[in-house]
Formats: sequence, C-alpha cells, structure tokens
Amino acid sequence: MKRALVPGTFDPITAGHVDVIKRSAQIFDEVIVSVAASVKKNPLFSLEKRLELCKEALKEYSNVRVITFDGLLVDLAREYDSHVVVKGLRAVTDFEYEFQMTAFNYELSETMETFFIMSPPKYMYLSSSIVREMASMGGSVTGFVPPCVEMALREAFASAYEAKEGKPSLGTF
Ligand code: PNS
Repeated sequence: MKRALVPGTFDPITAGHVDVIKRSAQIFDEVIVSVAASVKKNPLFSLEKRLELCKEALKEYSNVRVITFDGLLVDLAREYDSHVVVKGLRAVTDFEYEFQMTAFNYELSETMETFFIMSPPKYMYLSSSIVREMASMGGSVTGFVPPCVEMALREAFASAYEAKEGKPSLGTF
C-alpha cells in the first residue's frame, strides 16, 4: 500500500491544489490531504472550515482522505506510516521555499521523500493568496476554486461582492 501525504494550509483549497491531489490519487493507493493549522499565517478560514471545504471539493476521489494536523510534517508521516510527501510546484518562485522545506525535512527524517508535481500552465500563477485578494475586492474567482470555495469566499467578502455587483458596469452608461 503506497500512501502519500499532500500537506498545505489550503486557505482556501484552489483548482490548482485539486489538480495536484487528483494526479497524486492516480499514482498512489491512498492520498492523505493534510490541512495544516498554520496559525502563524493567520488564515482567513478556520481550520474546521478549511477541512470542510477540502472534504467537499475532493469528495469524488475515493482514495483521498482529508485530515488536519498541527505539528511537524515528519511526525505526521510517521503516524500515518507514509514515506512520501507530494507538493505542487508552480513558477520558479516556489522552488526556493520548497527546496528549503525539503532540505529541513531530510534533516529531520531521512526516510521521507518529497515528490513534486508540476502545475499545468493554466494554474501556474494560481495561489490561495491571489484568490483571497481577488475575492476581497469582489472579483470573480469562478474556475479558480471549487464551487463550495467560491460560495465560502462570497460569504466571507459579502460586502465587497455587493458593492461591486450592485454598481452599474461602465458599459451601461
Ligand atoms: O500551503 P502551504 O502554506 O505552503 O503549506 C506549508 C506546509 C503546511 C506544508 C508547511 O508549512 C509544513 O510542512 N508545516 C508543518 C510544520 C513543519 O513540519 N515544518 C517544517 C518544514 S521545514
């Protein structure tokens, strides 16, 4: 049984994350999507909400499980008897950060391997932070996030969407 962890803050889960998880689920017998508390990042969504959104977004993948964790990734890997961590790699800007995390994880556990899956071009520049920023200004995030996340963002930034959608567009003047 080849089990892989796909860790992240998932604040919120995007179409790019779903793509990486779907590809992982085609390669490994079981994929455990591990939602990190990441308290220092001061997430927009609570850990419970991020878990709920990940579960909803990934419900069609029968070999994908979603859990939360608040500790070291290497300890989680030991707990779940997994030696593989899968991360998505987008533009080169991701590389430095991922390289550093992989190096530290090697220091902490030599048995844990990090696998990288390249994002397809359409998701190369997509990130949770860009999605949050767009939504905070009432911008459309359709296609960039699963429908459940779009709804959650509309709730979180209701006033921005109301202000934007309540206004007549320039074309109607
Ligand atoms: O989606 P993110 O925020 O880039 O995910 C980062 C995450 C959660 C994978 C990373 O911060 C992590 O592994 N956190 C767990 C704590 C840990 O093990 N830190 C040491 C890695 S250097």
